[in-house]
Amino acid sequence: MAGQISQRFIDDLLARTDIVDVISERVQLKKSGRNHSGLCPFHQENSPSFTVSQDKQFYHCFGCSAHGNALRFLMEFDNLRFPEAVEQLASRAGMQVEREGGEDPGARQRQQKREEGVNLLELASRFFRERLALGGGRQAREYLDRRGLSQEIIRDFGIGYAEDEWESLKRHLLAQGISEAVQVEYGLLVHREETGRTYDRFRDRVMFPIRDWKGRTIAFGGRVLGDAKPKYLNSPETPVFHKGRELYGLFEARQANRQLSRLLVVEGYMDVVALAQFGIRNACATLGTALTTDHLQRLFRLVDEVVFCFDGDNAGRQAARRSLQTALPSMIDGRQVRFLFLPEGEDPDTLVRQEGQEAFEKRITCASPLSEFLFEQAAEGRDLKQVEGRERFVTAVLDALKLLPEGVLKSLLVKELSVRSGIDQSHFAGWLEKHAAPEPRQAMTPDAGYEALMMTSDGDIDATSDPGVTVDNGNNRARRRGHPASRSGTATLSLSIPARILHLLLHEPGLVEGLPESVEWCPVEVPDGRLCREVVQLLRAGRYRSPQVLLAHFHGSADGERLDQLARRELEIPRDVRASELENWVRYLERESARLTPVEEYHQLLEKSRQPGALSSADKQRLRELIGKLAGGP
Ligand code: GTP
Ligand code: MN
Repeated sequence: MAGQISQRFIDDLLARTDIVDVISERVQLKKSGRNHSGLCPFHQENSPSFTVSQDKQFYHCFGCSAHGNALRFLMEFDNLRFPEAVEQLASRAGMQVEREGGEDPGARQRQQKREEGVNLLELASRFFRERLALGGGRQAREYLDRRGLSQEIIRDFGIGYAEDEWESLKRHLLAQGISEAVQVEYGLLVHREETGRTYDRFRDRVMFPIRDWKGRTIAFGGRVLGDAKPKYLNSPETPVFHKGRELYGLFEARQANRQLSRLLVVEGYMDVVALAQFGIRNACATLGTALTTDHLQRLFRLVDEVVFCFDGDNAGRQAARRSLQTALPSMIDGRQVRFLFLPEGEDPDTLVRQEGQEAFEKRITCASPLSEFLFEQAAEGRDLKQVEGRERFVTAVLDALKLLPEGVLKSLLVKELSVRSGIDQSHFAGWLEKHAAPEPRQAMTPDAGYEALMMTSDGDIDATSDPGVTVDNGNNRARRRGHPASRSGTATLSLSIPARILHLLLHEPGLVEGLPESVEWCPVEVPDGRLCREVVQLLRAGRYRSPQVLLAHFHGSADGERLDQLARRELEIPRDVRASELENWVRYLERESARLTPVEEYHQLLEKSRQPGALSSADKQRLRELIGKLAGGP
């Protein structure tokens, strides 16, 4: 095995590299004052908060806090591991990488092989696409047709077909001068030890190319046309493909959305393409593995909000619990995670076909915030009326909270826990300190040590002297986290949002006074949505003022049962915050239904603020958040 890259070499390499050159090759930078600035490549923004300091040879983003030196930039931007980034930078500077214990003649060779591999997979992908179009692909075309996929989607996702032959791809690639050994290395050929024979790995399968975020094919997933096993076959781990890091559909989502702000994570290839077929072009899928920290890093580099989609059955809830655990340490500033549970027996593919785009999007809108799911998990199977039950509930929540990085979300959850358990929050402080979370975002890779080192040395980029850059002070930072609803500290057991609104109204019908005239904000297609509208309308009409009379109105119907169920659930939040919670939810749904961009919303609120007294407290809070979010000037 090759030795470690020597520190002396890294120092030398960085000394001979100008970070401004490296970044300019990938991001458009403008000189402003002593620094360079541009649109941050690591999060969506309209005004530049990404700065590069030539003096200090560091970059820093005031919007998403991405930062580091040239090596880190390459790792993040080109999605490279540390040694790969070093190699890339070295070859740029015309240097040969030095490792402890002597020269490494293999380095350059490995770099070459990487390129060769990517090239080879692209050839294979083209081959599969051609096969789908030809006579031999008829059955596959019929299959895709039966599954309702259009030509457009097949093209956008580069879907192809591997024929029912043992050596079709192999012969094709050999004719292009690509050796069997390389084909085996990149997972296209299987090598049988016993016989020494090699043959095509993918046969008689619909082929989904898995692309990296730049669109380079790095692996394949293949689905059988019938019921044979295994249903899906993936490329094995190769020099360019690591299953636990990649997500299917990310490139396509980016292609389809210039402004991607939310990603939906589903389970399967077919879910991604079916959603795309129905106009929901922001879904991606893990490749048959559980969610990993690497996945999350990749997702949050692109968007602030991730919605995980799960089956409604036990396995789905189990998977959701695991994902919650994985997500907690990543929940820093401004990030949001929500959980969408589908009806049992459905997956996004079947559901979107049944109910269409709009209804499915409403489900996404109404998915449970992380906070709700967390409290629900902790409460599950425990009797909160008993001291023992509460004790276990509190311990479970604290166990989760200790994984959360410090921040507003954590403080709000601590406060909320105190409300729900009736224990003063000062009692939790000591406990949490003792069980402090490990540093967030520290990927457990061999290079983590070096990454950490780079992260600590760049805290002081000086942009305050730079007129072109708005500096984010601590206050701004605190205000920019998530939408008010999920961070209001009034989390609930994971009811859908309309169900929670019903829940609040059932306990306190008088709250209806604070709601807007029209009920347009409430989506009707989601569970409890229609009922919620109906109840709001009844209450507004002034016919019912007590929960009992309201329940009596629905008595004997399925709606009545549902309302009974909700009425029996404890509300568990103090009176004085109920109105504001309700307002937050309604406001959130309003915003979602109007689908305003942050800039549009900002202007709308600004307009509203011209009439004295028109802004509610939730409006004001939202306005502050937006200003924080758009810091740098709307
Ligand atoms: P369709 O049956 O085509 O609708 O696929 P699906 O996405 O509904 O399949 P399912 O829910 O069974 O599986 C979800 C994901 O798990 C797939 O997209 C694959 O990534 C993975 N998967 C399913 N079956 C297999 C298998 O047999 N082998 C492997 N390696 N992965 C599988
Ligand atoms: Mn399916």
